[in-house]
Amino acid sequence: MKDFDHINNKKIIILTGDNNFYGQTRKPWVSMNVMAIKERLSHYSYEVNIYNIQDVFNKKITLENEIILYSFSQKPNVRQYIIDVLTFLNKNNTIIPSLDLLYCHENKGYQKIYKEMCGLTGLKAWYFSSLKEIDNYNIPYPIILKTITGSNGKGVFLIQNRRDLEKRLKKLSKIEFLKSFDLFRRHYFRKKTFPEYPNHNDYEDYLQYKEYITKNENFILQEFVPGLTYDYRILALEGKYFAMKRHTREGDFRASGTKIFDFTFNPEDALLNCAEKVYNHLDSPFLSMDIVFNGHEYFLIEFQASHFGVSAILKSKGYYTRIKNEWRFVKEKLNVEYEIADALDRYILKHKI
Ligand SMILES: Nc1ncnc2c1ncn2[C@@H]1O[C@H](COP(=O)(O)OP(=O)(O)O)[C@@H](O)[C@H]1O
Ligand SMILES: [Mg+2]
Repeated sequence: MKDFDHINNKKIIILTGDNNFYGQTRKPWVSMNVMAIKERLSHYSYEVNIYNIQDVFNKKITLENEIILYSFSQKPNVRQYIIDVLTFLNKNNTIIPSLDLLYCHENKGYQKIYKEMCGLTGLKAWYFSSLKEIDNYNIPYPIILKTITGSNGKGVFLIQNRRDLEKRLKKLSKIEFLKSFDLFRRHYFRKKTFPEYPNHNDYEDYLQYKEYITKNENFILQEFVPGLTYDYRILALEGKYFAMKRHTREGDFRASGTKIFDFTFNPEDALLNCAEKVYNHLDSPFLSMDIVFNGHEYFLIEFQASHFGVSAILKSKGYYTRIKNEWRFVKEKLNVEYEIADALDRYILKHKI
């Protein structure tokens, strides 16, 4: 975290998407009520200004030495826009969540890198952009393949062996329809020589062109934890831990996306300790964590610092918190916007931002 001693800690800027969007509640496209966040922060005596993120540059709004809370987006172009603007704003402001956590959003590749940067160890994982590299590594099968974007288990596959991996990656790769015609032409009909490139070879050029126009997905390979029938979704909001179990469907190892939730369990201290450790390492007022148990240890498999599903808050009866160094369940919860505002306030006070 930056050390901005001079920041006026009673002022917060909220940057939203179109129509005051700050994700999310029921679905990724349904916003929280930003006015409720503002109202709650105002109640704690913060001066809150809300801007549309596109106005920052286009209306030349100068933001310096501010605390900026901003919305993520699931839409790739909007996410890129947010990354551009926030990369700039990060130079002279404290942005929440941090830039690294923004890069982690919808990017399981950077999640792997950042997790390791923060000193978090866990399941073995590798990050690749093509199949070609893989043979230089000793990959233990079966293994989990995850495209770096995607949610609800859609980009997550159990891979039994190298051949299986090759087939799955082929299915995930695409050549645009019109380009495939061009490829055909180059393969069978093209006969060219270039005086300035005497080494040109039509067939080699065809192969290289084919590789060039193929759209591939970046992906990670992650150590497989066998035999799971559920995982845990823990939402951490600065000292409060909302916990939920998500069950798999029969014949499928993925719990994400099934919507089979369970709140009738008592999390072991070790699970909450794991969530707390991750939360402390990643440094954000809000963190959604997917955690699995291999029978001995808990492992983080995915995380998100904003714009996560909020069922764990809405459907649970309360949260876990440390009181006198012991985990206690507190039967109480506020609405989501107040929980977000309160967590932000506790975070700002704790870190003396
Ligand atoms: N390494 C793993 N071993 C076993 N099961 C896993 C592993 N990683 C993910 N899963 C299962 O697949 C689901 C989806 O994986 P996750 O990484 O959370 O992706 P998504 O973004 O689709 O939620 C998880 O909820 C979990 O049930
Ligand atoms: Mg997940």
